[in-house]
Amino acid sequence: MSEPGFAIRPMRLGDIDQVHELEMAIFPTPWSRNSYVFEIEQNSASHQWVVESQPGGQIAAYLVGWLLGGDELHIANIAVAPGFRRHGLGRRLLAYALAAGAELGAASAALEVRASNLAAQQLYAEFGFEVVAVRKGYYQDNHEDALLMQLPSLGAYSTRQASQSLPDF
Ligand SMILES: CC(C)(COP(=O)(O)OP(=O)(O)OC[C@H]1O[C@@H](n2cnc3c(N)ncnc32)[C@H](O)[C@@H]1OP(=O)(O)O)[C@@H](O)C(=O)NCCC(=O)NCCS
Repeated sequence: MSEPGFAIRPMRLGDIDQVHELEMAIFPTPWSRNSYVFEIEQNSASHQWVVESQPGGQIAAYLVGWLLGGDELHIANIAVAPGFRRHGLGRRLLAYALAAGAELGAASAALEVRASNLAAQQLYAEFGFEVVAVRKGYYQDNHEDALLMQLPSLGAYSTRQASQSLPDF
C-alpha cells in the first residue's frame, strides 16, 4: 500500500495528537480531540485514513468518512497539511476513500463544503461531484452557506489503484 514518500493507512489513536494539531491550524471550527477518539473507537459508521510520510511518520493529510444508510459515503472531513498541498495528496486520499467506500458497499458519496472554498470545490468537481443543494447559513462561525455536493455513482476506483503513485517530494 505504500510508495516511496507517502502511504495511506487507517487512522489510529496514536495519530490524534498530530491530526488535532492540524485540525486546529486549518479549520475555524475544529473538531475536538475527543471527537476523533469517538470516531475511531465508537462510531461504527466512521472510517478514517491518514496519509503518512515515509520515513518519518508525519501526518500529511487525513480524511473521515461516514457510511450513512449503508449506501452513501459522506465525506465528513478532509484536510492536507499546509506544507504538503498542491502535490496531489488530497486527490489521492479522496480517491482512496471513495474506493474504500465503494468496497464497503457505498453506491454514492456526498459532502458539504463552504461556498467560499473554491480549492476544495475544484477538487470535488474533478471527481464528478455536483452541487445539488445550498444549505443557507450552515456554518456557525460566519453563517456562510454550505454547498451540498453529491457524486451519484462510485466504482471507478479500487483502493489498490488509489494508493499507487503517491507523490514523492
Ligand atoms: C482542499 C485540499 C484538501 C486540497 O488538498 P491538496 O492536496 O492541496 O489538493 P491536490 O494537490 O490533490 O489538488 C487536486 C486538485 O484540486 C484543486 N485544487 C487544490 N488546491 C487548490 C487551490 N488552492 N486552488 C484551486 N484549485 C485547487 C486543483 O484542481 C488540483 O489539481 P491541480 O493541482 O492539478 O491543479 C486542501 O487545500 C486543504 O486541506 N484545505 C483546507 C481544508 C479544507 O478546506 N478541506 C475541505 C473541507 S470541505
